[in-house]
Amino acid sequence: MTATILAAKEIAPAIKELLSGGVVGIPTETVYGLAGDAKNPEAVAKIFAAKDRPHFDPLIVHVPPTWNSVAELSRHKVIEQDKMSDGMIKLADRLISAFWPGPLTILLPRSNSIPDLVTSGLETVGVRMPSHPVAQSLLIAAKTPLAAPSANRFGRISPTTAEHVFSELGDRITYIVDGGACEVGVESTVIAVHDGRVSVLRPGKIGMRDIDEIVKPMGVFVDRVTSILDEKDAKAQTSPGTLASHYAPQKPLFVLRDTCDHTIANIPVSLGARTVGVLMVRRDRPQLLDALKKTGIIVTATETLSDHGDPVEAAKNLFSTMRSLDNSDAGVILCETIPPADGLWYAIADRLTRASQK
Ligand code: TXA
Ligand code: MG
Repeated sequence: MTATILAAKEIAPAIKELLSGGVVGIPTETVYGLAGDAKNPEAVAKIFAAKDRPHFDPLIVHVPPTWNSVAELSRHKVIEQDKMSDGMIKLADRLISAFWPGPLTILLPRSNSIPDLVTSGLETVGVRMPSHPVAQSLLIAAKTPLAAPSANRFGRISPTTAEHVFSELGDRITYIVDGGACEVGVESTVIAVHDGRVSVLRPGKIGMRDIDEIVKPMGVFVDRVTSILDEKDAKAQTSPGTLASHYAPQKPLFVLRDTCDHTIANIPVSLGARTVGVLMVRRDRPQLLDALKKTGIIVTATETLSDHGDPVEAAKNLFSTMRSLDNSDAGVILCETIPPADGLWYAIADRLTRASQK
């Protein structure tokens, strides 16, 4: 099997494939997803098989633009409103109206119409309404929620172009819909909604502060549960897929804690590597390259997240720059220190730290 890449205007074969229980690579504003009918267990099983994804890692369910409230999601049998308190309903509706369509996944009590396989047997289902126009067209035409994890082989770098999907899964699926390069570049923020509290399970573009601004007037608190950057919580696997090792290139990747630290040159040497690929945060700060130049180590590839340190540009470039360093002839990948900030920088640091875990 070799996947056909369909132009965004030619989605008819993709819809046919989805409605007959097949799986399709689709664009979203965050990363490309591998989509299948969320209510068809066979389609869901094909997603897990194509990705080599373990069954303990639940999938996110994507919904069309009009399913924009707890009541609508419940009416379409994605979630179960009766299992939510009035406070939870009000909170979820507030978050939906503030951030959907967009890169926010909300965990809510699942409907029995969502197969066990989607939620890995958990009592909640992750729901998200993508803002990408092609994803929306597919959802509107299919009239069914689409389960879609990122369209990469399990544990590998998430795809942000149709070509990336082709190189990950091109021999395993029939169609990939090309919606251009993803705007956001890192996966959605995943949150759990409780009575009086919102927990961030996976950081993304929508940061804790953005959420806090919306829910604070309701007397609701926001906390962070499992980010790998919060070491004290790193072992709490509330979101099973937020595994320590994830988003990983095939080459060893190191994230420097201090870019000017003179021990950095020892890292590639201790790994027996004479060549490195460097992931720079911004083009106008060459300290790391200067430090490496003073050693016998040869920098064979350099990629830059952003010219002047803009987090939107950096996130958009993150996975493609990692992919390109992974495909270069460098022995290891060294990444500069990421600025300590909420929102996209935090999400970028989270993905790089996971990519560096073996
Ligand atoms: O931006 C995104 O979210 C992309 C695009 C395609 O929408 N999707 C994505 O899916 O990143 P995936 O499968 O690569 O990541 C989903 C994450 C995993 O960490 C999974 O464990 C978590 O969401 N998740 C999903 N359902 C969950 C649930 N019921 N409880 C806890 N965590 C859940
Ligand atoms: Mg993923």
